[in-house]
Amino acid sequence: MAGTMQIADMTIVNAQPAQGASLGGTYEIMKPLGKGAMGCVFKARHRLMNRMVAVKFLPEDLSSDLLAIKRLEREAETLARLDHPNIVSTYDFRCNGSGAPYLVLEYVEGRTLAEILAEEGCLPASRAIGIFKQIASAMEYAHQQGVVHRDLKPQNIMISAEDEVKILDFGIAALKNHVQKLTAEGEICGTPHYLSPEQCTREMADNRTDVYCLGVLMFKVLTGKVPLVGKSFYETMNRRMTEDAPRFRRVAPDSNVPEALEAIVLECVKRNHMERYQSMQSLFDDLDRCCLSGGLDNGAKPRVKLPKGAAVKGRNGSSVVLALVSVVALVLCILAIMCRI
Ligand SMILES: Nc1ncnc2c1ncn2[C@@H]1O[C@H](COP(=O)(O)OP(=O)(O)OP(=O)(O)O)[C@@H](O)[C@H]1O
Ligand SMILES: [Mg+2]
Repeated sequence: MAGTMQIADMTIVNAQPAQGASLGGTYEIMKPLGKGAMGCVFKARHRLMNRMVAVKFLPEDLSSDLLAIKRLEREAETLARLDHPNIVSTYDFRCNGSGAPYLVLEYVEGRTLAEILAEEGCLPASRAIGIFKQIASAMEYAHQQGVVHRDLKPQNIMISAEDEVKILDFGIAALKNHVQKLTAEGEICGTPHYLSPEQCTREMADNRTDVYCLGVLMFKVLTGKVPLVGKSFYETMNRRMTEDAPRFRRVAPDSNVPEALEAIVLECVKRNHMERYQSMQSLFDDLDRCCLSGGLDNGAKPRVKLPKGAAVKGRNGSSVVLALVSVVALVLCILAIMCRI
């Protein structure tokens, strides 16, 4: 049959493992689940245990790329450190008969957040906030284990029918105390839509980088739009480094997201990492306050406020404060002079 070949212990059809193919005699390939820049993922069945798993291979063009292999290895190592209900679990990391590595993961039933957004445009705040809290809580846990994800985006978030979250794809995650070069090179491939300003300038990413990426994701979920996107890869990176994110109504005039929730999102996507939430825990706490204050509308009281200058290109909150202080100082001077006269 055209396009069919046998690689060691597995039949490959048109570069994809065929349905029914055996992996080391242990797993039987069922069907493709998804594909990203760094992996092809298949549903498979553990023959003895009769349990469904997901198996992640490198795409064919990267199957002998040393850097890609190291990344998959790193993903296995990272996931092995993490045990959280909202983070996908890993079961095994092996090589098939021809030496190609694969990662065996918990099979997650559901759709990616990207697929949901493609169908529904954006999500109502009342539903979205439950999803955001699960992501923030899982990432607080990951940060405590010394893991920065660095690639939070809707394609990497699975949502079950009950809206339970599983975070996927720790392929470019950074581990504390590891040399970062390997993964830093992987950061700027694919789409720049969820990149933070510090990733654009290749500065060291830390927990606050994940806060920024989650902020962009929340912006997209609530408005249907990604902020600060240019016509090209480089224009997007440039906008990320030089502009503040706009108010929701600028990109989605019909948006009825409560201002309290909008303020939380805009706090996450501040250009300067020192001005963002400094931890996922403090972001989670504010999201929780939004929920607790009953109905997400008038009563919501997160600790952050909407930045007044957020809609104005290149202006940030501190310059507004500076301008106000200058005006007050000028008025006081005039008053002092008048009193002397
Ligand atoms: N454990 C899983 N259960 C079900 N589906 C999964 C699982 N892991 C991955 N997928 C599907 O496969 C797709 C690609 O997976 P993943 O994000 O890990 O690959 P990737 O190539 O590293 O992605 P990227 O392009 O972001 O680097 C996901 O978007 C999802 O649709
Ligand atoms: Mg992915």
